[in-house]
Amino acid sequence: MKNNELILILDFGGQYNQLIARRVRECNVYSEVVPYNISIEKIKEKAPKGIIFTGGPASVYGEDSPRCADGIFDLGIPILGICYGMQLMTHTLGGKVEKAETREYGQTDVNIDNTSSLFTDFNNTNKFLMSHTDFVQEVPAGFKNIGSTSHCPNAAMENVEKNLYGIQFHPEVNLSINGTQVIKNFLFNICKCSGDWQISSFVEESIKSLKEKIGDGKALCALSGGVDSSVAAVLLSKAIGKKLTCIFVDHGLLRKNEGDEVEKIFREQFDINLIRVNAKERFLNKLAGITDPEKKRKIIGEEFIRVFEEEAKKLGTVDFLVQGTIYPDVIESGLGKSSVIKSHHNVGGLPDYVDFKEIVEPLRDLFKDEVRKTGLELGIPENLVYRQPFPGPGLAIRIIGDITDDKLEILKDADSIFREEIANAGLHKSINQYFAVLTNLKSVGVMGDERTYDYTIALRAVETTDFMTGVWSKIPYDILEKVSSRIVNEVKHVNRVVYDITSKPPATIEWE
Ligand code: XMP
Repeated sequence: MKNNELILILDFGGQYNQLIARRVRECNVYSEVVPYNISIEKIKEKAPKGIIFTGGPASVYGEDSPRCADGIFDLGIPILGICYGMQLMTHTLGGKVEKAETREYGQTDVNIDNTSSLFTDFNNTNKFLMSHTDFVQEVPAGFKNIGSTSHCPNAAMENVEKNLYGIQFHPEVNLSINGTQVIKNFLFNICKCSGDWQISSFVEESIKSLKEKIGDGKALCALSGGVDSSVAAVLLSKAIGKKLTCIFVDHGLLRKNEGDEVEKIFREQFDINLIRVNAKERFLNKLAGITDPEKKRKIIGEEFIRVFEEEAKKLGTVDFLVQGTIYPDVIESGLGKSSVIKSHHNVGGLPDYVDFKEIVEPLRDLFKDEVRKTGLELGIPENLVYRQPFPGPGLAIRIIGDITDDKLEILKDADSIFREEIANAGLHKSINQYFAVLTNLKSVGVMGDERTYDYTIALRAVETTDFMTGVWSKIPYDILEKVSSRIVNEVKHVNRVVYDITSKPPATIEWE
């Protein structure tokens, strides 16, 4: 991607690398994460205003420890080395890196020299996150010490003449108080960036580079109606128009009217080549009698791929398969070694089944809120852009036990009332996920003078930022009361409504 002003981030394997990229973008400077061993020619071609070396788990003394290209320090481009990046800079330029007896980890008081351009606007002592074992014992010739902690004699260094800077701490994380200011100082005081990049520039540049990349080729995109695939599809459609085909597999397990709404937006507002496959019956047949949540997920995942594949085959070979992968997906799939609580199905399995030449993932470097901003910039309606997360297997995992058409209708109606009342109360932006669950429980009630024996609906609402943990939302009683009375009055076969007051953990957000 061509940019007027670019910061290159050399990836040495640290866990916060994309966060560094994001912080730079928050300062309105475009940044790109590239492999640590990017060649000098490539760097020259990209002509960045500055380079950041990330941290990483290696030791500079390790046999295969990652090294940067020779000559990078002579390019005259400002470089900031963070953690391992600082140690590598030291080691390469003739300073001394040593192993410490103990690891220094956690928020630490760092004494700094605030006359350095890197630390403009800082006090002498600041709380930053340290996370390292090796440390710089002796800075290279020509460098000056500009920071230390009680355990680390050289927590920051600079060579003003060569525009080379190193910091042992991590300015990108929230645990480093005001850490972004260090990044800002590097960008504006040292690299002399102007900071005029905006999400609109990302959109413009992505469209341009997608046009160049795809040329006259054909592209295919699986559209789910979720934020990520929608933004990816619209971006592609702006770049290549009708050379893009989107396949929307409607498994019939979406929320009330959702399938039609998705279709309307993409056909009418964006004039996208859209194939909607109404496959409800197919999915319900496969799911008949299935009660195990993981089996449901597996069946839906496989059937989804099969339907998509059948439709894709009709189109013949396509050159590019578009995926709405965003950065958090990349971390989850790359580092996700934790045990499987639920096998979250997404369309990750598609590439094996479809005849295509290359995958295009235009949102791969973005975080969710950046994807949302991109969506708004592209003109996607706010209610879609700010849609709460919705699981791939849809309502199938919100009907406890086996799934039937009747149960689906009951759940859709109850859920729609709950969502409507949450929106009426203006709570839809503060509660991160809220929905109804059809429990498999029937209980006795009384309506009019009649005994009833009907279903119990559970309401679930959680507040969370990462969806890994969350607390149940304290929805005011009068709103719960209204939802409850509307559901039992308006939805047939429901005579009881309960509210789930469990946080995650120990419960999960979905019931299955
Ligand atoms: P849990 O229930 O694990 O949910 O606390 C965390 C988040 O993940 C969503 N979720 C899924 N998303 N396929 C998905 O695409 C799934 O099978 C699935 N199960 C849960 C859930 O809605 C919540 O946002």
